[in-house]
Amino acid sequence: MNEKVQDIIQKMTLEEKAALCSGKDFWHITGVPRLGVEPAMVSDGPHGLRKQDETADHLGVNESIKAVCFPAGCATACSFDQDLMYKMGKALGQECRAENVSVLLGPAMNIKRSPLCGRNFEYYSEDPYLAGKIASSFIQGVQSQGVGTSPKHFAANNQEYRRMSSSSNMSERTLREIYLAGFETAVKEAAPWTMMCSYNRINGVYASENPKLLTDILRKEWGFEGFVMSDWGAVNEKIEAIKAGLELEMPGPCEDSVRQVVEAVKSGALSEETLNEAVRRILEILLKEKADASNAVFDREADHHLAAEIEAECAVLMKNNGLLPLSKEQNIVYMGGFAKKPRYQGGGSSHINATRVIGAAEMAGAHTTYVKGFDVEQDELVESEIAQAVNAAKAADIAVIFAGLPDSFECEGYDRSHMRLPKCQDELIARVANVQPNTVVVLHVGSPVEMPWVNDVAAVLCMYLGGEGVGEATHALLYGEKNPCGRLAESWPLALEHNPSFLNFPGNEDGVHYAEGVFVGYRYYDKKKLPVQFAFGAGESYTTFSYQNPVVEVKEGVITAKVEVTNTGSRFGKEVVQLYVADKTGTENRPERELKGFAKLALLPGETKCAEFTLTQRDLSFYSEALGDWFAPGGEYEICFAHSSRDIREVKTFAFETNQQLPLTLHRNTTVGALLKHPKTAAVLQPILPEQKEEGGEASKEAITAEMIRQMFINSPLRTLRGYLNYSKEQMDDLMAKLEQALKQ
Ligand code: BGC
Repeated sequence: MNEKVQDIIQKMTLEEKAALCSGKDFWHITGVPRLGVEPAMVSDGPHGLRKQDETADHLGVNESIKAVCFPAGCATACSFDQDLMYKMGKALGQECRAENVSVLLGPAMNIKRSPLCGRNFEYYSEDPYLAGKIASSFIQGVQSQGVGTSPKHFAANNQEYRRMSSSSNMSERTLREIYLAGFETAVKEAAPWTMMCSYNRINGVYASENPKLLTDILRKEWGFEGFVMSDWGAVNEKIEAIKAGLELEMPGPCEDSVRQVVEAVKSGALSEETLNEAVRRILEILLKEKADASNAVFDREADHHLAAEIEAECAVLMKNNGLLPLSKEQNIVYMGGFAKKPRYQGGGSSHINATRVIGAAEMAGAHTTYVKGFDVEQDELVESEIAQAVNAAKAADIAVIFAGLPDSFECEGYDRSHMRLPKCQDELIARVANVQPNTVVVLHVGSPVEMPWVNDVAAVLCMYLGGEGVGEATHALLYGEKNPCGRLAESWPLALEHNPSFLNFPGNEDGVHYAEGVFVGYRYYDKKKLPVQFAFGAGESYTTFSYQNPVVEVKEGVITAKVEVTNTGSRFGKEVVQLYVADKTGTENRPERELKGFAKLALLPGETKCAEFTLTQRDLSFYSEALGDWFAPGGEYEICFAHSSRDIREVKTFAFETNQQLPLTLHRNTTVGALLKHPKTAAVLQPILPEQKEEGGEASKEAITAEMIRQMFINSPLRTLRGYLNYSKEQMDDLMAKLEQALKQ
């Protein structure tokens, strides 16, 4: 332990220790001013600085300082660009430093289980690998400035419905592989200063008082060194929370909690040692060497440009029949209120008081005309407005419709009830596309929407919620000043009903059953071979790329993979090379393939670069509940080099060798198949099994084939061998003993 921290703890009174474990006010950690530990400020987060004073609320009703609204998580994950995320984090870290904010409350990195979750716009992906990598770089960027982060909401907080009490019920494998893996990457790679635990319960136990989550997994397994703070109001039972590994209750002041802690220590219900440990963890962070804030500036102008630059790297060109990019010589009409007033962020605790927002219409200026077509807040079909838009579309060469979800359709605190755009917008798009084949749709949404008109329009550009620079970015992409290079960080299903969580979202009073298990997003659509509207990882460019010369090598358990990519078009562009691993070992219940690497290559026309990846055993593994650990079965795997999860360009196969076996529990009803799969028991059993061959006349051969006999053996419990082998009880006991002995060796 840091000596200074030890010294402070020795000097602290019990009351001071208890007080340190609760917030000073809405946005401050208490500190111990008497002993030179100043209170520290925390602020939302995640995609901008939402700094309020202590009287402010966390729901966004009161104003926060003017700040820069960067693209939300739904957009930034589509960059598939870790360097860019570091840069964004660094800029936010500088802003925090200039404003004396010690911890930025983010990144928000829960998995997008259903497109309906009201907070999906803040979250990154349906894929834990991508979410973990994007979060890690962001955290490293912020923390490079001597400012902490608080990845949230830990864990399995994938809906807003009953968010403060719902229990997310799932198997251990699902929890580990899908809902914890991203956090695990962030903790191991980026060492966040703090973590924010979620409101919900996990398999019945509140995240805030969950020792398995906060101590066994987070600390003991992953080595987390920071402190855990509660989401605002997430503490259920204060003493249970401290015992489980939650150090800081937010917001404060919580006089009652402080009193409870003091009493619990006095009565022996909480040991002072446990409290000291919580105090130590908070002090270690509060006393971290802070970067010098005196020269820090919050350069709103520079950061506004950075926000626009980042958004241009995130937007996804979903479809393009060649109409885009536009040219200034064309007669173009913009329509839809979002052209003037883009929707660039979602509602709730992440809401930023943006510096300035320019619409794409203003950027285009005299090159385009504008008709409203529909209102951005109301779902009201105004016939005269639609008619005016249809006429304008007929008269123009090209119609660009700026569609999107109104604020009230997606927001923190409640989930969406459907996956559609407002009816007036769908109607307008359909009617304009009917008269104008050169129709482009620009989307301002925080999560997928159904697109009944998609086959009738020429191009779709999805800006997601692109931050305050979205207008500039949209303009640059539409007119080809920049080449789109974002890729979807989530699948866009054809219909909500196709989503794997559909039958079990959002659950009921008791909780929600994650019945789809690990088959979330593309893991489900691919396994079921379902068509999707747009696949995970998909995105078009104004240029084209070819893949060649894939190589995979395995040396001492480390797998290196590389592939060359060439820009075969005539424009500069960026390709996101995606690496998926497919288990071909015959192991049951594994996804078709899983993302385990990505690299963004910037390529001039005709230029070739090599994307290189290093994989470890963990990248081949699933979480085995029997083993209580990750396990990579021996056998064949495929490395797929891909443009998207559904556009695989090159495949290489390799064999993975391992001596590790899953544990086998031996009893009378263990199947013969399981015993034959394990080399040690197979060595005992195989020689004594009768030969499985077809016998008898023609008629019985047809009825009982060798394959049928083999399958019957495989699926039979061990005890049935007594009949097959005509064994006495003693012979069976002897066989059992030999099998037990073999397993022990
Ligand atoms: C949200 C958190 C946020 C906190 C403070 C909560 O309601 O869930 O994401 O950081 O408020 O505003």
